[in-house]
Amino acid sequence: MTERPRPNESRARVVALAVTGSVAAYKAVEVARLLIKSGHRVLPLMTASATRFVGPVTLSGICGEPVATDMWDPAYPGELHVAIADRADVLAIVPATADALARLAQGRADDLVTATALCARGPVLVAPAMHPRMWSHPATQANVAALVSQGRVRLAGPVVGPVASGDVGMGRMAEPVEIARAVEELASGVGDLSGKRVVVTAGPTYEPIDPVRFLGNRSSGKMGFALAARARARGADVLLIAGPVALPTPAGVERRDVETAEQMRAALADALGPDLRGADAVVMAAAVADFRPASASATKIKKDAASAAPAIDLARNPDLIAEIAARRAGEAPALVAFALETGDDAAVLAYARKKLEQKRVDLVVANAAHESLGHGDNRVALVDAAGASPFVAASKEALADRILDRLVARPA
Ligand code: CTP
Repeated sequence: MTERPRPNESRARVVALAVTGSVAAYKAVEVARLLIKSGHRVLPLMTASATRFVGPVTLSGICGEPVATDMWDPAYPGELHVAIADRADVLAIVPATADALARLAQGRADDLVTATALCARGPVLVAPAMHPRMWSHPATQANVAALVSQGRVRLAGPVVGPVASGDVGMGRMAEPVEIARAVEELASGVGDLSGKRVVVTAGPTYEPIDPVRFLGNRSSGKMGFALAARARARGADVLLIAGPVALPTPAGVERRDVETAEQMRAALADALGPDLRGADAVVMAAAVADFRPASASATKIKKDAASAAPAIDLARNPDLIAEIAARRAGEAPALVAFALETGDDAAVLAYARKKLEQKRVDLVVANAAHESLGHGDNRVALVDAAGASPFVAASKEALADRILDRLVARPA
């Protein structure tokens, strides 16, 4: 007979595993099993609706701990949510329903799970699971963005796949093994980017035509902001150089707002310094305008019924990432560019490969314009000298983690 692993090794952590009411709740049992197998102690919590999907006895049997479901349980002395939050190194909410995400985003504490989350000492992992229409609803997307920008919550999934109804789409819970791995990373306490300085650019640039008009593009900035939030949550010191977007600054991130490509270039030069030692990595998620009006009118251009429509002469903007790459002597800083293209997957990948060579960067994130611009989710392939990964569809936060994983895996 082999005994249940004892949580007595130095890397063993206490994980509060909170289950909310989704069909995917049965997979939380597997997450608990995997964590216990790795030697961690798991404190199970369930919302009332979660108990309709999976029996508390199953979870308590696997975890060897009583299942906490009720803030008002007289069997527990003191305040149960505070006691659990005090004991847990990490709180994992698996699965997290759309309702749980909404309540977490609002900072509500109306059941044991949300009260414990509000009181958590350490990081919180959420593994969303819901129908794809619920996931893509703007309310859910806003809640997820708010949670991520607060800097305390890490997302695991969701992923594209079949959901309980039989429909297929983004909303299926990540696999238990992925969730357990993410929990273990968080529980280990040391961000894998700690000690690193990461500069991220985000959003469009606006190139003035006259004092009231500009040339711009449809970039929302969401991908760059997600990258900045995730890099910070993983321990990096992050500077976010943002074009004109109305997004909140992720917690703990230093932000510099710019408008034009020239201003972005100056902000990058300031951040990197003459020897480019100011950053370990530069992630150019900004959609920098390739052209600007050759000269901006100092006064508003007026329409004149007698004359034809004015022509706007354009001048090329410098390629900011290519300029940095050309000045780079060795491997640092690591350089990541984006290739936002129209066309099918093969065409998008071909453009991305061309950009990798032309710009002399280390990684190109290839995505199709119609799947990216303004969306909370995206579908990308990562292209480097070794080849291209398959296209993966996921939330921008989850994709940000994949991009950062590549940077971490890169030889120093
Ligand atoms: N980029 C940059 N400076 C520019 C333009 C783009 O640093 N003046 C960066 C973007 O931040 C992004 C990548 O380069 O990381 C995009 O490459 P680019 O060739 O500009 O893309 P598109 O304009 O979309 O492509 P193309 O003009 O080749 O169609």
